[in-house]
Amino acid sequence: MSAKREEVSLTLLISGFGTVGRAFTRLLVRKRDYLVREGINVKVVCITDSKGGAVKEDGFTAEELMELTKVKRSGLSETKWGIRGFTTTDGLDKLKPDVLIEVTPSNYETGEPGLQHVMRALENSCHVILANKAPLALKFKYIMSLAKRKGSLVKYKATVMAGTPLLDLIIHGLKGAKVLYIKGILNGTTNFILSCLERGLGWDEALHVAREKGIMEADPRLDLEGWDPAAKLVILVNTIYDSDYSVKDVKRKSLTKEVVRLIDDEFTVRYLAIFEKGQLKVEPVRIHRSDFLAQVKNTYNCVELRTEYDNVIRILGKGAGGTETAFSILSDLMSIAKYLRG
Ligand SMILES: NC(=O)c1ccc[n+]([C@@H]2O[C@H](COP(=O)([O-])OP(=O)(O)OC[C@H]3O[C@@H](n4cnc5c(N)ncnc54)[C@H](OP(=O)(O)O)[C@@H]3O)[C@@H](O)[C@H]2O)c1
Repeated sequence: MSAKREEVSLTLLISGFGTVGRAFTRLLVRKRDYLVREGINVKVVCITDSKGGAVKEDGFTAEELMELTKVKRSGLSETKWGIRGFTTTDGLDKLKPDVLIEVTPSNYETGEPGLQHVMRALENSCHVILANKAPLALKFKYIMSLAKRKGSLVKYKATVMAGTPLLDLIIHGLKGAKVLYIKGILNGTTNFILSCLERGLGWDEALHVAREKGIMEADPRLDLEGWDPAAKLVILVNTIYDSDYSVKDVKRKSLTKEVVRLIDDEFTVRYLAIFEKGQLKVEPVRIHRSDFLAQVKNTYNCVELRTEYDNVIRILGKGAGGTETAFSILSDLMSIAKYLRG
């Protein structure tokens, strides 16, 4: 890593090459000239998927990166740079990249494979950017303490309301102010399903439309049993309070077809993530149609924060999508570069 005052060079390992990994790779190529103008030279030296990796120690060219984004899923090891069975951990140990971009699936039972990737990166004093929520939703304090000991940065703007800079507001804009409660719509898929129900669709039909639109997680429990919003709530709360909640501390009530009965001309339902007085919960809540959160439709997310000076701050925006998430990762990468430049 070279960190001159005017220029920073960073080598990257992208761990996971699905929707987000590919969108981020395309964005890097698109923003290459901009990054150079900003004095940031980025070289991707390794990309991994579940079957192996593509490695180029002196960095892939823009054309090569675009070629890789067109490779079929799980296909990196079949390319001319491919090594079957080459893991993220192998890449971290052998190539010693400056930054790990961790975009493998979120697994809230074990945190793996992301957790071991993050740990190994930090042990190697590598900086980490996550869109994968699971490591932070399970081991927030442990990761942050290890990062501090190793002098590494951990950035995770994409984990909560990807594409909408909620965490920036909290980290930079609310310094010194106590946040008394958090209430929010943190899962776009369930909000989309509820919006369909409001329009008169039946439960099965709403689920079908969400699946057709490609917004349901491969494992629907992550959305319908509230794992995804619970993980985001934990990351938010731990960031605000410097606490160490785990996703397993959140009381979750699933979103089921029973909610249909609660929706009428006057009332609707929102699947809310709530933090108040030390309690974290995710549950369907019946709210009046005039309520601000009732106006948040489809895949939009919204978070309400009440501060000690009795202000209610609301931030509304997109909460997912490959490109949106890629922009959050890019922003985190630029923050790391800025930090290194001093
Ligand atoms: N999609 C979004 O809008 C969004 C928004 C915010 C956060 N996120 C989070 O970002 C992460 C990635 O999301 P995604 O939508 O890109 O998921 P995805 O499309 O399922 O891609 C996951 C990628 O991880 C790879 N992978 C699985 N196990 C691996 C391992 N052991 N080592 C290396 N790679 C491995 C998969 O490999 P194969 O290709 O071989 O299957 C795939 O390429 C998830 O944690 C998600 O929760 C997503």
